[in-house]
Amino acid sequence: MSKFNEIVEKARQMPLLSNSSMRLMEIISEPNHNMQDIAKIVETDPALTVKILEMANSASYALRQPANTVAEALPYLGEKLITGLAMSQCAPQVFNRPMLGYESQRGELWAHGLRTAIAANEIAKVIKLKVWPGVAYTAGILHDIGKSVLSKFLTGMSPEMIKKLEKNEVDDYLAAEEAMVGANHCSIGGELAKHWKLTPPLQAAIAHHHQPADAEEEHRPLVYVVHLADMMAMLGGTGTGSDTLGYNLDHRYAAFLEIDSDTFDKIMMDILEEFEKITQALNQIA
Ligand SMILES: [Fe+2]
Ligand SMILES: [Fe+2]
Repeated sequence: MSKFNEIVEKARQMPLLSNSSMRLMEIISEPNHNMQDIAKIVETDPALTVKILEMANSASYALRQPANTVAEALPYLGEKLITGLAMSQCAPQVFNRPMLGYESQRGELWAHGLRTAIAANEIAKVIKLKVWPGVAYTAGILHDIGKSVLSKFLTGMSPEMIKKLEKNEVDDYLAAEEAMVGANHCSIGGELAKHWKLTPPLQAAIAHHHQPADAEEEHRPLVYVVHLADMMAMLGGTGTGSDTLGYNLDHRYAAFLEIDSDTFDKIMMDILEEFEKITQALNQIA
């Protein structure tokens, strides 16, 4: 079996996302959903229900009356926190392991995904193109999932990969991954997204976030949103380890997303503030 096939096989063996997290992602990606739709899904998942109630009743929210039902708790938490919580609960094998191949600590993939998600959500809100902020957020959280599979195969190779980059033997970290193991985290992420039966826009964002021009035309606006958001998260100092800033910005994003420098700075601040808020809330129940 070739190395590439071996890695793809590994992606296909990953546990599936839980039903409730899949349905949550689907519903949040739809423009016309409401809190009741979300509550109905959360209520089918006892573990998630417990976490949501625990979080709403934690010190961060200081409710006068404790929330006893999901429907009471949800408005305090907001959709972003709920999706973030669902993903960390439902896919701990993906997000909550150290990634040796990227010399990254436990939780770094999660933190980078969350920062990218916040940026993608904000970018989607300010551009004129129709990219639903909910789908941009979910795509941001998931964009680097391929690394969770590839990491094991790259263990110990980071110094050589960084050298290749410094000597300009490869164009970016994606090409360095390719040179070492014949696969990169975008192609493997794409396989994982198919295996998880994610929607076509999410599959496209995961598979093409470093080369957005390769995405199918209908998905390109979303993929460019995630591409820029990813770069902004890395610029803000949160990547996933040895590969941080080892990628190129596709300047053609400007044709899709008109963002002036004030808006850019504001989004960089939003990433910091929102990230702090969400992680503080999550830490309350950790
Ligand atoms: Fe990436
Ligand atoms: Fe990334």
